[in-house]
Amino acid sequence: MDNQTYLAGVEAAIEAYYQEAGISDRLVEAVLYSVRAGGKRIRPLLFLQMVEALGQELTPAHYQVAASVEMIHTGSLIHDDLPAMDNDDYRRGRLTNHKQFDEATAILAGDSLFLDPFGLVAAADFSAEIRIKLVKALSDASGTLGMVAGQMLDMVSEGQSIDLKQLETIHANKTGKLLTFPFVAAGLVSEVPAKTLLKLQKIGELVGLAFQVRDDILDLTADFEALGKTPQKDLLAEKSTYPALLGLEESYAFLEVTLDQARQLLAEVTNEQISSIEGVGALIERLRLHA
Ligand code: IPE
Ligand code: IPE
Ligand code: MG
Ligand code: MG
Ligand code: MG
Repeated sequence: MDNQTYLAGVEAAIEAYYQEAGISDRLVEAVLYSVRAGGKRIRPLLFLQMVEALGQELTPAHYQVAASVEMIHTGSLIHDDLPAMDNDDYRRGRLTNHKQFDEATAILAGDSLFLDPFGLVAAADFSAEIRIKLVKALSDASGTLGMVAGQMLDMVSEGQSIDLKQLETIHANKTGKLLTFPFVAAGLVSEVPAKTLLKLQKIGELVGLAFQVRDDILDLTADFEALGKTPQKDLLAEKSTYPALLGLEESYAFLEVTLDQARQLLAEVTNEQISSIEGVGALIERLRLHA
């Protein structure tokens, strides 16, 4: 299946959820404004490709899980852009949510996108055991054990000098955990052995770390057109980033090595469980940058 087909399914699952919500039109409008702005949708794509690689046929329930991680990610972007956080005016090529609406609306739209996915996953057509495992994994990836904690560390590290180990912890949490979820969730719905699940988690962690290093590099090197968001914001905010700590050249090298490691582990799992890794492999390859 091509990525366009996957994306249409993910978007339909999100839209379907909000079709049913009729309490505040303004809230739904704000939520859908940011969802419909697009984005690369790499998290749902990784999940769907991984599920297929594990030999499962995709059902509407898989699309709901894919939608759930995209919803939390989109909520994280809305909050990340708020004046109290990174204070950005553009996202996904259009005005940020609080610029288009107002701050209160953006905060609430983010809240919706954090909470709704749990209802969506809880109602998906999997066994109760799988649903509970998915809800737990999504909560761990998103909240105080994951993305939100990483965002906290990111905020308090502005203007501070931290070491590489501390920076890796920030990246692993603010970005890595939501990119690990697709791999772990694919393993959970496919009921792979514990040993394989651990390997999938490790692949996700490597892809997640690489993803934020890449984002840090692009903040310095890409333009508005390519990013859909204001470039060179990290320097201004004195963010702790890989280029700030290692320099640009070493950051490129680190990205390359980390992606190589992810590919290698993916090949290992292939021998055990996976029929074809081409789809997932191609998504990982897309993350390479050349200096
Ligand atoms: C941006 O994520 C924020 C990070 C976690 C680095 P993406 O680069 O996935 O943003 P979209 O979804 O494509 O807009
Ligand atoms: C954002 O990291 C991570 C999350 C949204 C959780 P950044 O602050 O670097 O993301 P961008 O560059 O604004 O997309
Ligand atoms: Mg940020
Ligand atoms: Mg930001
Ligand atoms: Mg960034």
